[in-house]
Amino acid sequence: MTTPSLPDLADHYTPEVRAQAENELFGLLRVPSVSADPAHAADMEQAAGLLRTKLESLGFSARVDATEGHPVVYAEHLKAAGAPTVLIYGHYDVQPEAPLDKWQTPPFEPTVRNGRVYARGATDDKGQAYAHIRGVELLLSAGELPLNVKFLLEGEEEVGSPNLEPYIRQHQGELTADAIVISDGSRFAPDVPTVTYGLRGLSYVEVHVTGANRDLHSGSYGGAAPNAIGLLATIIAGLKDGQGRVTIPGFYDGVSELTDAERAMWAELPHDDAAFAASIGATALPGEAGYSTLERLWARPTLDVNGIWGGYQGEGSKTVIASTAGAKISMRLVPGQDPERITRLISEHLKATAPAGAQVEVLPLHGGQPVLIDLENAYVQAAGRALEHVHGVAPKFTRGGGSIPIVAVFRELLQAPVVLVDFGLNEDAPHSPNESFALSDYHGGVLTSARLLQEIAAQAQTRTDSPA
Ligand code: BES
Ligand code: MN
Ligand code: MN
Repeated sequence: MTTPSLPDLADHYTPEVRAQAENELFGLLRVPSVSADPAHAADMEQAAGLLRTKLESLGFSARVDATEGHPVVYAEHLKAAGAPTVLIYGHYDVQPEAPLDKWQTPPFEPTVRNGRVYARGATDDKGQAYAHIRGVELLLSAGELPLNVKFLLEGEEEVGSPNLEPYIRQHQGELTADAIVISDGSRFAPDVPTVTYGLRGLSYVEVHVTGANRDLHSGSYGGAAPNAIGLLATIIAGLKDGQGRVTIPGFYDGVSELTDAERAMWAELPHDDAAFAASIGATALPGEAGYSTLERLWARPTLDVNGIWGGYQGEGSKTVIASTAGAKISMRLVPGQDPERITRLISEHLKATAPAGAQVEVLPLHGGQPVLIDLENAYVQAAGRALEHVHGVAPKFTRGGGSIPIVAVFRELLQAPVVLVDFGLNEDAPHSPNESFALSDYHGGVLTSARLLQEIAAQAQTRTDSPA
């Protein structure tokens, strides 16, 4: 059910306003704010500056705060005394564009094809974050803001938000809010508006294997000397059993099983394994035995090798035994698992089970807690009503497989409920070449954001008006 008495903002969202909203987003997409690459430091400043200027133009008190890494944009519009306060979080940094030759049009020249804007960051997360800025603007175009709004836009999400937790601790008082709203994931399917109520956590490590003290002639030494690549392959192969289960002792300890109600809710979702496999061009969906695809994606932990190196990578052949080899390994975690514990478990396990001749080193990179959000929460329900109002169909409540580590930090430090309302789709190809965002999804996001803020203000009003 949506709240019928609220003014309908769609009338204010004219073709001219839509075109402006698009052009502004394209301006942000032109800035190559790649957080992982120090060469882009000036671009980070430029993107942050654009956001601050925009928010100031909407009457926010806005600033760019330096951190030890990339800057944080903070802005607040606190003119609705007694009304609730919503903190909107997003990130203006993007993943590296590589491989560049796989892009049909340059990653930082936003290009519209078939109703989609193609650019790095289009969906993750510039497009989705900017939808909230334009949502607030839309609401302002219809009058005063009926509630208080704060924006926190960071520039280091794609590198694990190393400086955001200290920032939040430092600004804890200033950041207080009744709810935190985030659009930085994917909804379930094109015709299924979604409120996301779970995210996986993450533990990320690098494994370094050394065999001999130098690369060796594979004729003079082959058959007798340890080969770091072969040893690493043995180690990796041993991390899963024939059922696709992770073999690290204790890895599954504490993992919450799905409730029957949740399993039933997911079984109702329009998911088809064959179509899913086809959508990624895969010939099979290997995974943990005994669980459906959605369960594997949302409710089960994983272990994946994200990169591997060692030995000769150049043209032609080189007969050599590698002295060193390495791999990047990430584990997606689910409620009941603690990233620090999992990082410790894998480190201990890899050292304890190292094959003879392998000298193993494990370097923790970063991690994050999984999250599960209470569906009964009033703000989550308000997001459902906003989606229903905009799309004309009841939304689904689903989990997501990705990670936004700062969500757990928000909940702990700000003690406020988090609402994940995702406007993007996996097929937008975040992190991949040819990332895009459907302009209709962008505009839907703008309308949903504005409606959500209306709904939140209205429900607080109802609560104050009605006798206790
Ligand atoms: N927007 C994603 C997170 C996401 C993706 C949530 C899909 C739900 C569904 C975010 O920008 C991201 O890429 N996060 C990283 C983690 C981070 C620590 C690098 C991720 O999930 O790999
Ligand atoms: Mn993101
Ligand atoms: Mn991302």
